[in-house]
Amino acid sequence: MTETEPIIIGTWKMQLGVPESIELAKKIKKGISKKGPEVVVCPSFVSLTRVADVLKKGSISLGAQDCFWEEHGAYTGEVSAHYLKEVGCKYVILGHSERRKHLQETDEMINKKIKTALRVGLTPIVCIGETLEQRQDGDTNSVLIVQASAAFKGVELNVDQQIIIAYEPVWAISPSPHDMQPEQTIETNQVIKQHLLDIFPQSIVKNNIRLIYGGSVDSTDAASFIALENTSGVLVGGASLKSEEFLAIIKSVS
Ligand code: 13P
Repeated sequence: MTETEPIIIGTWKMQLGVPESIELAKKIKKGISKKGPEVVVCPSFVSLTRVADVLKKGSISLGAQDCFWEEHGAYTGEVSAHYLKEVGCKYVILGHSERRKHLQETDEMINKKIKTALRVGLTPIVCIGETLEQRQDGDTNSVLIVQASAAFKGVELNVDQQIIIAYEPVWAISPSPHDMQPEQTIETNQVIKQHLLDIFPQSIVKNNIRLIYGGSVDSTDAASFIALENTSGVLVGGASLKSEEFLAIIKSVS
């Protein structure tokens, strides 16, 4: 992998039950062509094994939407990164703003989860992003730096490990009425990139870390985001729930 290899990640959040997830996975698998970007789908926990069965022998990778920071133990309701590995996940989304907001996930928890995911052999997709209020106050860059510093505190990557960072401005995530134009992410991407270079060795940033964008991405703008210098993929919520639209996104960057 290099920082420029494109990746398209669809996250189905809590929008689809098991039969719908199976159906969607089948349609995406059927519609995907052999050549193109790396594609990942992230169903709900309960759909993972069934979707994994559908994706078998195909090119689409599986991701989860969260994991717990402890590997095993008496933690009612939590899901171990090991279980995600067992069912075939390669990726796990961590630090999503919806979890930060609704479940009070802190930077410290996210940092622990990232370390656990890496230890267990999953690639974390780490979400960072400012709220509308923070943006209006002119705090965007400092929020991103604080979140990234906290997320990667004490994290060391070896050459076999990868991290994906998703810049997801909270105010641009659907159903928000606000939209982000691709050019508007140029500065923030530079800030994130520079900060990564402050934290990790240059070769690791180049070969093991990809920066992607998420927030109301669809087939009309995915390619424009990915065409930007520091963006090598998209994290798609709503537009990944319809096979035709998700396949159109994949096709647009192929
Ligand atoms: P939407 O594409 O629905 O705005 O969701 C983005 C997101 O939060 C992906 O993690």
